[in-house]
Amino acid sequence: MRGHVFYRKLNVELPTIVRGKGVYLYDADGKRYLDGSGGAMVACIGHGVEEIADAIAEQARTIAYVNGTAFTNRPVEELADLLAQYAPPGVDLAYFLSSGSEAVEAALKLSRQYHVERGETQRRIIIARTPGYHGNTLLALSASARESYRKMYAPWLLDVVMIDAPYPYRAGPLGTAAPAMTGEALAESIARVGPENVAAFIAEPIGGSSTGASVPPDGYYARVRELCDEFGILFIADEVLCGAGRTGKYFGLDHYRARDGGPVMPDIITMGKGLNAGYSPLSALLVKRTIVETIERGSGGFQHAQTYSHNPLAAAAGLAVARYVRKHDLVARAASLGPELLRRLGTLTAQGDGADIVGDVRGLGALAGIELVADRSTKAPFPRGAKVVETLVKECLKAGLVVWPNVGHADGTNGDLIIIAPPFNISQSELDELTESMRIAVAATAREIHATKPPLAAATRIS
Ligand SMILES: Cc1ncc(COP(=O)(O)O)c(C=O)c1O
Repeated sequence: MRGHVFYRKLNVELPTIVRGKGVYLYDADGKRYLDGSGGAMVACIGHGVEEIADAIAEQARTIAYVNGTAFTNRPVEELADLLAQYAPPGVDLAYFLSSGSEAVEAALKLSRQYHVERGETQRRIIIARTPGYHGNTLLALSASARESYRKMYAPWLLDVVMIDAPYPYRAGPLGTAAPAMTGEALAESIARVGPENVAAFIAEPIGGSSTGASVPPDGYYARVRELCDEFGILFIADEVLCGAGRTGKYFGLDHYRARDGGPVMPDIITMGKGLNAGYSPLSALLVKRTIVETIERGSGGFQHAQTYSHNPLAAAAGLAVARYVRKHDLVARAASLGPELLRRLGTLTAQGDGADIVGDVRGLGALAGIELVADRSTKAPFPRGAKVVETLVKECLKAGLVVWPNVGHADGTNGDLIIIAPPFNISQSELDELTESMRIAVAATAREIHATKPPLAAATRIS
């Protein structure tokens, strides 16, 4: 322990980062790191972009804070207008907050308020997916299937109905016909709890850290929309991680079509992370106009107050980031990055020491997941106690590469994967460097594992 900062992780010495430029971070000892995950899948335009810093400085000089219930301000108006251009038709009213968890918390509360104001006060059930992650505040955590985060607070969490997430690598013997893959798992859960009791279904359109960038099959969200329409349930697309261009379209849900060939319409979209690309905390809800109009005609206001909502400084950063993304055509760049990234990372399964622990490489756009397994033929995960992904992250850092770990996706406890989510404007040579550092780190991790006797494999075997 040093100094007076209460760090989240208490038994590690954290390097001090003193600056960042492009895809690189530099620490106080002069070591350079390639930020292969943009921190927590955030830094999508790279570090140290001058025009974003200028926009923030200019806004700070002009007006940094007003309360969102008393005043409006130009940056939030302009950012809302800009987001509306990307939003599905009619889902175009933006409510700004500071973090992804806050956006999810607000979205879930909004779904309840909407139903109550329509007189359907019995609608209180939330359906979410496992694996899945929506944040760390208590309602968002209730909707998150992350045991390691939930355990301590279990007595305080609400009952959220969990259905299996579409997870192609672990779809089981039924494969693409499995209820989790077709959307029928949602139909079953709605029937079980009574459709009239369900307020909302929340899902990450493209899997984030929880399923390691798993991509649900075509037709999945068409079925989700159909069910939500049939039973009056709100569909909340949690785009905190996969939105703002990360997967090569502005929203993850844009990769899917409804039965009539049109867009799959969410009722509420949550955004965070790439919305501000790390330049200041900002999240947003994009809400269907008819939902807001119902509340406008009813109580007249959203029952959700936060001091920093609709903040001009954060919105100015968001506006500058969105304009930068548009000016440099970075969503298209994220799309073209996808095959380049997967081709390179795919070589990890075939070449070099450590290929035997790489079970799967997948993803979309500038989002890729690498799943580590004890046995490639059975897909058996390593036991959690072996801390395999922790070793890999440590080896990556040693090799000058930042990646994002996740655990528990295989069976709730076991499972190791990492996410690669570089800035969209990463260059070819930087991609080569990322892959090479990854290869070195995977090989070192495999050596450490193989040095452990007896060989590691989790008791739970998953086909
Ligand atoms: C899909 C998703 N939703 C919500 C959150 C919570 O966001 P935050 O950590 O900014 O509160 C995350 C964070 O990882 C996320 O990936």
